Amino acid sequence: MLLTEIDHVAIAVTDLDAAIDYYKRAFGATVDHREIVESDGVEEALLKVAESYIQLLTPTRPDSPVAKAIEKRGEGLHHIGYRVADCAEALAAMIAAGATPIDKAPRPGSRGTTVAFIHPKGSYGTLIELVQE
Ligand code: CO
Repeated sequence: MLLTEIDHVAIAVTDLDAAIDYYKRAFGATVDHREIVESDGVEEALLKVAESYIQLLTPTRPDSPVAKAIEKRGEGLHHIGYRVADCAEALAAMIAAGATPIDKAPRPGSRGTTVAFIHPKGSYGTLIELVQE
């Protein structure tokens, strides 16, 4: 089994501070990490749950993929991050299994991780992110 943990569940929101406040009030959640990822056009806040995270995600510019997702489908579940020991190995295994990669090779993600995205088409309608810490 190549997956070692659910790294994060990513939820697209239009107002990051309001979403953080909601999770604080509802669950007593605290922000473990907050980062603007300029290359992806997003700002994220990570709320730690055991060894995983809830990732609240908001677009930083109108042409960001997350902005387009919100435009199309509204706020809500955006992708699942699967934690792996070796992103390149997991990406190759997914391609061999018939997956359509968005990233042809692993690239830098937030908080110093190495990531690769897989297209929802061919992966049961789910945008998958492989995350190597
Ligand atoms: Co993610």
